[in-house]
Amino acid sequence: MWDDLKNHAARIGDRRILSLFEDNPNRATEFSTEALGMVFDYSKTQLDEQIRGALLALVERAGVAQRREAMFTGKKINETEGRAVLHTALRNLDGGAVPVDGADVMPGVLDTLRRMEAEARALRASDVTDVVNIGIGGSDLGPAMAVRALAPYHDGPRCHFVSNVDGADIADTLKLCDPERTVFIVASKTFTTIETMTNAQTAKAWLVEKGVSAEGRFIALSSNVAKAAEFGILESRVFGFEDWVGGRYSMWGPIGLSLMVAIGPENFRAFLAGGQAMDNHFRNAPPHENMAVMLALVGIWHNQVLGHATRAVLPYDNRLARLPAYLQQLEMESNGKGVSMDGADLACHSGPVVWGEPGTNGQHAFYQLIHQGTRVVPCEFMVAARGHEDDLRHHHHLLVANCLAQSEALMRGRSLDEARAKVAGQFTGDELERQARHRVFPGNRPSTTLIYPRLDPETLGRIIALYEHRVFVEGVILNINSYDQWGVELGKELATALGPMVSGEQDSAGKDGSTRALLDFIHRHGG
Ligand code: F6P
Repeated sequence: MWDDLKNHAARIGDRRILSLFEDNPNRATEFSTEALGMVFDYSKTQLDEQIRGALLALVERAGVAQRREAMFTGKKINETEGRAVLHTALRNLDGGAVPVDGADVMPGVLDTLRRMEAEARALRASDVTDVVNIGIGGSDLGPAMAVRALAPYHDGPRCHFVSNVDGADIADTLKLCDPERTVFIVASKTFTTIETMTNAQTAKAWLVEKGVSAEGRFIALSSNVAKAAEFGILESRVFGFEDWVGGRYSMWGPIGLSLMVAIGPENFRAFLAGGQAMDNHFRNAPPHENMAVMLALVGIWHNQVLGHATRAVLPYDNRLARLPAYLQQLEMESNGKGVSMDGADLACHSGPVVWGEPGTNGQHAFYQLIHQGTRVVPCEFMVAARGHEDDLRHHHHLLVANCLAQSEALMRGRSLDEARAKVAGQFTGDELERQARHRVFPGNRPSTTLIYPRLDPETLGRIIALYEHRVFVEGVILNINSYDQWGVELGKELATALGPMVSGEQDSAGKDGSTRALLDFIHRHGG
């Protein structure tokens, strides 16, 4: 099924993207998708009618529409764990029933949402000044990213996020908190994750050391009520969710409590409504007008067909600074799989390495490689049409100008002749030639741009749901189970075994030479 696309790649060779605009004055509108007040422009890529057609054929052949309905209607599409995939139910605020095993999950979802709202309102009205979310991976990245993204709406207590088992993380955070006015949210679907449990115990010990009772200071967000009770958290302060919510898709439910405390229940509902609007778009728009489908297809074209191993996510929005990290988990934990649904080796590469930083900061760091390095890095730019700082509109104008300039520069490049003309006044002869070559930009480097009106709660919900569905579509086309994560297990098992060797309680015999030597060095240096 990839041959057709590989043939197109061979057909176009090193065709200039700019020439596609010369050939078709309507290219910008014909190769972009507008929905829900946002535009996704993929015209600065090599996609032409035929390539888009071949990519859309993949969607048809892989059965994306059928699989999508299976997901939305509670079928157990997470086949290796025998689970439904229903994070969409968490934002199905005015939708209908969603059955799992014949029972509607919506009454439970709405009941938990109302309990969360009561808790958030009580916390916001109390004398609590600091809320510390202790969690990792999906129990950290979503709310941490969103609390930062929605800073202009943050009118609740300060929120901190402790994730790393490195004691530095919790130690640095506790220094900022008053034990009498701090509440800890222990966010862990399983309530067994070693980092989270270790940090939660340290938080409890800190309260005791400060002479403050831990009672009433802890909230649990977990599917494991029994374990939360063992930790000493009352059932009334446990906000549960079902196994059909994957960790990296969980910020729409209880795991989003810190966000709700920060921005308030009304804004949180707006965030959910944004996610639901994108669900409706994804479910109903025809493939070529479907933003999530087209975002996925551009990704497939760059990664699986053209072989570009990474993609950069470049939000020109400082408040989206944590979005690349969030997307790293969402995309790489979901689609970083080497076998297809039936256990056979993948016929193509799995999902790409996802990385990035906000613009314009990245421009002064790694853009050098993006422009002149020997590897092509497809770039995904994003920017708001309007910022929140109306009194600083000139900043926003500069931000947008930089964002657009980068995608233009990547596409346009600078030829040797243009480079010569640039330095002609400074150098002559061989030196002019040498200097000019350093100033050549190959160009023809693909990028996409997502423009949204303003980063408000609803828009953030739309953007996050868009990326979730992109992962879904790519996963279906690759025939991957995007909803398990067995690849994180081996390291966890080995870390458990290594613990006593690091502390010196157990000998490292049996370990490989490198691990033994590293342990030896650590012990000799006081570890
Ligand atoms: O280690 C991977 C992982 O299982 C993620 O998928 C998950 O988001 C994270 O750990 C945290 O898990 P939990 O919420 O159960 O603590």
